[in-house]
Amino acid sequence: MKLRLKLHPDLSRRCGINLRCLIDTGIDTPVVRYKTGTNSTIGPAESQGHYFLIFIALTNIMKRLPVFSSIILFFSLSVQGQSSRMDVFVDGLMKKMTLEEKIGQLNLPSSGDITTGQVSSSDIAKKIADGKVGGLFNIKTVAKIKEVQKIAVEKSRLKIPLLFGMDVIHGYETVFPIPLGLAASWDVQAIEKSARIAAQEASADGINWTFSPMTDISRDPRWGRISEGSGEDPYLGSEFAKAMVKGYQGDDLSKYNTILACVKHFALYGAAEGGRDYNTTDMSRVRMYNEYLPPYKAAVDAGVETVMASFNEIDGIPATANKWLLTDLLRKQWGFKGFVVSDYTGINEMIEHGIGDLQAVSAKALQAGVAMDMVGEGFLTTLPKSLKEGRVTLDQIDKECRSILVAKYKLGLFDDPYRYCDESRAKTEIFSMANRKEARAIAAESFVLLKNDKKILPLKKTGTIALIGPLADNKENMTGTWSVAARPEQSTTVLAGLKEVAGNAVQILTARGSNLDADSAFEERATMFGKTLRRDPRTAEALITEALAVANKADVIVATLGESAEMTGESSSRTNIEIPQAQKNLLKALLTTGKPLVLVLFTGRPLALNWEQENIPSILNVWFGGSEAGYAIADVLFGAVNPSGKLPATFPRNVGQVPIYYNHKNTGRPLEEGKWFSKFRSNYLDVPNDPLYPFGYGLSYSEFEYSDLAVSDSTMKGSDSLVVSVMVKNTSDRDGTETVQLYIRDLVGSITRPVSELKGFQRVLIKAGESKKISFRISTNGLKFYNKDLKYDWEPGEFRIMIGGNSRDLRSANVRWIR
Ligand code: BGC
Repeated sequence: MKLRLKLHPDLSRRCGINLRCLIDTGIDTPVVRYKTGTNSTIGPAESQGHYFLIFIALTNIMKRLPVFSSIILFFSLSVQGQSSRMDVFVDGLMKKMTLEEKIGQLNLPSSGDITTGQVSSSDIAKKIADGKVGGLFNIKTVAKIKEVQKIAVEKSRLKIPLLFGMDVIHGYETVFPIPLGLAASWDVQAIEKSARIAAQEASADGINWTFSPMTDISRDPRWGRISEGSGEDPYLGSEFAKAMVKGYQGDDLSKYNTILACVKHFALYGAAEGGRDYNTTDMSRVRMYNEYLPPYKAAVDAGVETVMASFNEIDGIPATANKWLLTDLLRKQWGFKGFVVSDYTGINEMIEHGIGDLQAVSAKALQAGVAMDMVGEGFLTTLPKSLKEGRVTLDQIDKECRSILVAKYKLGLFDDPYRYCDESRAKTEIFSMANRKEARAIAAESFVLLKNDKKILPLKKTGTIALIGPLADNKENMTGTWSVAARPEQSTTVLAGLKEVAGNAVQILTARGSNLDADSAFEERATMFGKTLRRDPRTAEALITEALAVANKADVIVATLGESAEMTGESSSRTNIEIPQAQKNLLKALLTTGKPLVLVLFTGRPLALNWEQENIPSILNVWFGGSEAGYAIADVLFGAVNPSGKLPATFPRNVGQVPIYYNHKNTGRPLEEGKWFSKFRSNYLDVPNDPLYPFGYGLSYSEFEYSDLAVSDSTMKGSDSLVVSVMVKNTSDRDGTETVQLYIRDLVGSITRPVSELKGFQRVLIKAGESKKISFRISTNGLKFYNKDLKYDWEPGEFRIMIGGNSRDLRSANVRWIR
């Protein structure tokens, strides 16, 4: 490879020196060709004099430049120097590799039969020693990882270290809220911090690559994996994606506590038909670009190093073999420089998709731009034959192998393969008090107060509480789905959290009240991976009778109900998105006591809560808040923390409204204002079009009043930016945090535009009785969209600017924007 260094013409002019330097690193003795003003020489780089001459020339340049420019020059040269060192190293290494070793780097088996102490006798050990493995995933503990890495760097011919991946999705052992909950905090700094801590803990335990963030937009709560993403909105999703990538990768990947991030599942996985996991997706390019792709792109723009291809198809071609997606869009249009990994057996599954046998689908995946084959070993077993038959090229294999070696280099694994294997870090940095404190704080921020009639909440720290429900005293479900590194015994239950926060003045009585569901087989499917609820063998009637007896002794009832952790997540789609009937029966019975009733709702998806909204006075949605959620729930219930979460996805009235999302199109027959049904309008006979709880919705113990929306101008020109402001008053006697949301509607476009789109938000603490003026600055960047030719630009015309505390209750003003 040839590296050209050329002094910028401005600098050249200013210091009267002309420096051109070409370093050819392609061979063992790199050649340096340089030209400085008068001298011009070509020669092998081992002739140290050449480096020396370049150094002298640079020093002369530095002397003639102001300090600042010198620093810039120095840094730009050293950055180039670093990447050139990396290129030299990787090129050199690749020259030594056999074809089998190159293909080996593309292989990512799961940890399989690995157990500490027996690693070296396992099947996987043999493959590693033979150079047939590039990385492994989901192995936990430094001890095991060290043992495995040792095989790679001591027994394999070229001693290439392995990547160690894991699904560190929302925390490691310190578990944060599920991603949908994290997004509900709308607190970008806190989200980044959660990823930073997750990376810190994972890297302390040997992991250097996480399969996160998942940024699949989903408008379908039937889909179980909606819990793993940030909801329905491209803008919020993009903010979430950037924060997560920054948190994991930090600003320097070679640091011991930063790890590779992996944006997934690329792309459109959240648009599976019928909300059924792994199902087909099909959508127009315009919708894709405007509504579904932005968060992935945001992750790429934030420098994400790896991308995971999704299981679904796009335009009839599975994402894993989709060259348009993985090469044209991702690499050519977006400039992605890292590597793509398939999802778990994603390559092999293309046989079932019906696009060929293992050899054919593996070749297609490589051609499309997949570098790593997760689990299926299609690359390992078929690429040599495909190369011989001319179905793939050596260039394609080289390119992907190189991208994996580059990632390893960037992590610093070639300098020190055990960089992430420091046992002393594992002892002190995982599940530390400091990390748990952060997790408790962000969990409390993620909770969404859906209803609080008669101000039942916050609870007083006196009297008797009846804590009822299958989730009241259960550790296993607190961390939610995809918490593979969590140790359930470390989680705090709601009961334990309440006891600790309430102190001795409160008596807490408990009863189970119901099982998760009347159907034990359903409960089994919904409590996999050790997330047991220990089903109670008593009849539903017996459980309710006991609960009523307990409730009757209390001043207030707190019912901890909803979904189990594994009712969402992978392969956990539901067609009924209500709270299971057995639990509703319990709620109905509890209401007969006439006691104040708070529903602490566990859920990984938007649920249909019509009946609950009508009948239950207080509903606090706590998602799955993580290992510290027990404390965080107590903090919010007793008012130490004022709830501030806002929904990142619409809660429908019933499943029939799905897909339902705030940023929909108007249609040619929208409903008239104030009506919920009109014949020959776009609506339903049986329920209104609007949801039960809109996107962005969430109450607080404070109340906020919006007034005085003002725009800096009513006609804007080209590059002008508009300032829009609103007064927000906390009319209550409690300090509270409000997320002020800015939406825009492009009233006339060359293609139809959504009725509103989130374009900004600010989380602001407003003291009791205080008014704050909140301003947003909008430039034409905020008006841009992809038009029918997929050109990203804004169009002059009229825009409605809307501000409010959710996507429904908004104040607005119209402005014109001309070129
Ligand atoms: C999931 C991915 C995950 C992978 C590795 C797959 O089943 O779809 O999200 O990263 O497994 O565990």
